[in-house]
Amino acid sequence: MSEKPRLTVLGTGYLGATHAICMAVLGYDVLGIDTDAQKIAALADGKVPFYEPGLPEMLRKALDSGRLRFSTDIAEAAAFGDVHFVCVGTPQMKGSPAADLTYVDQVVTDLARNLTRQCLVVGKSTVPVGTADRLTQLLQSVAPAGSAVELAWNPEFLREGFAVEDTMRPDRLVFGVGSGWALGQLEAAFAPLLESGVPLVVTDLPTAELVKVSANSFLATKISFINAMAEVCETTGADVQQLAKALSYDSRIGGRFLRPGLGFGGGCLPKDIRAFIHRTEELGVGQAVSFLREVDAINQRRRQRTVDLIRSQAGGSLEGVTVCALGAAFKPDSDDVRDAPALDVARLLGDEGAVVRVYDPQAMDNARRAYPELVYATSVADAAAGARVVALLTEWDQFREIDPTWLGDIVESKAIVDGRHALDPVTWRAAGWDYRALGRA
Ligand code: UGA
Repeated sequence: MSEKPRLTVLGTGYLGATHAICMAVLGYDVLGIDTDAQKIAALADGKVPFYEPGLPEMLRKALDSGRLRFSTDIAEAAAFGDVHFVCVGTPQMKGSPAADLTYVDQVVTDLARNLTRQCLVVGKSTVPVGTADRLTQLLQSVAPAGSAVELAWNPEFLREGFAVEDTMRPDRLVFGVGSGWALGQLEAAFAPLLESGVPLVVTDLPTAELVKVSANSFLATKISFINAMAEVCETTGADVQQLAKALSYDSRIGGRFLRPGLGFGGGCLPKDIRAFIHRTEELGVGQAVSFLREVDAINQRRRQRTVDLIRSQAGGSLEGVTVCALGAAFKPDSDDVRDAPALDVARLLGDEGAVVRVYDPQAMDNARRAYPELVYATSVADAAAGARVVALLTEWDQFREIDPTWLGDIVESKAIVDGRHALDPVTWRAAGWDYRALGRA
């Protein structure tokens, strides 16, 4: 096998496309595979099918190098690759908190059928602990090469919006392996990162699977902790922003992921904690993470509490009230609307009879597909025209930089709910606005 293994990336969503592109830029020959022919055609044509800052430039670079190709043919991947990365999604199942492993099982089975020589299959998708053991058996029983095919687990920690940075300079690498050979293959596949000093933790397979869900559980817990403090602040007249600032100077606590507001959403944190609770219950250790139910409940309450605050700003009823909703994406620098708190708030407002005018710099198409019943504006000014209440729901820089005097001339009434604690209350109040935010006096 060559010193630089040939890589395939199975699944070219946020995770897979970024991984494929960055590995090619790092000098590897990479073949990206997806069942979605449209997505593959776009990528091959130099177009990233979602919004991710910096990724289009990296794709151009990778394609120009001649090291990156895309295909829908998994047999081609099996013939080409020494190391195969599984990057397909594991969404929440419909009607259950469990992770849906259909895509993982399908791609591993399809790949295995075509594996006729020694190679390493590496899981990157977020899966319930124990999945890797099951997939090892699946792989080796289906693959013509049998036990010459090994499985490893290499969890991915990239954040949307920072995907390139997190892939090129990750804060750690985790290799879950079952043999020295598998470890050698992974070391060869990540040589440039390891040489640049990225810390490596080598584990067994279940530990590697668990690292990922426990990392996301910890992050979710931190966010819900500060939002729980916000709830207490709301009834005591205290200010959660100052409280969070004071906590952040304690280096044991730290200030990151301690931003209060509307809470977490996206395709990862919410579904990962639910799948983790479900899996631990299956294993009989559910009590160990029962606190995650509360983490989820605190997070969900933020959405209703934000609606309550907007209703109060509207004078007690939302019936027929025009609300300008700034933001749809689950966070800034992303067009992802999966479990987006912003859109959930917009939907709840609509349910109470409000006319919700949504604007987001990047997520409009995805939002329109997910919630066709909402009204979509073409700009901040268009969304704000005649609004009784403005609600800032995703903290895009464009919204942080809004001039309150300018906006004040467009709206019907200068009432704002800052769902993300992104604006300076002093400046907004000085411009005549009735500024409200959860957890702030
Ligand atoms: C998250 C993790 O941060 C990544 O490490 C992980 O790889 C990824 O999930 C995944 O499992 O694939 P991501 O979903 O891109 O990444 O988003 P985050 O930056 O973690 O933000 C999640 C949500 O928390 C957003 O809705 C954000 O607005 C919210 N948040 C974040 C807060 O409400 N407060 C904070 O202080 C931080």
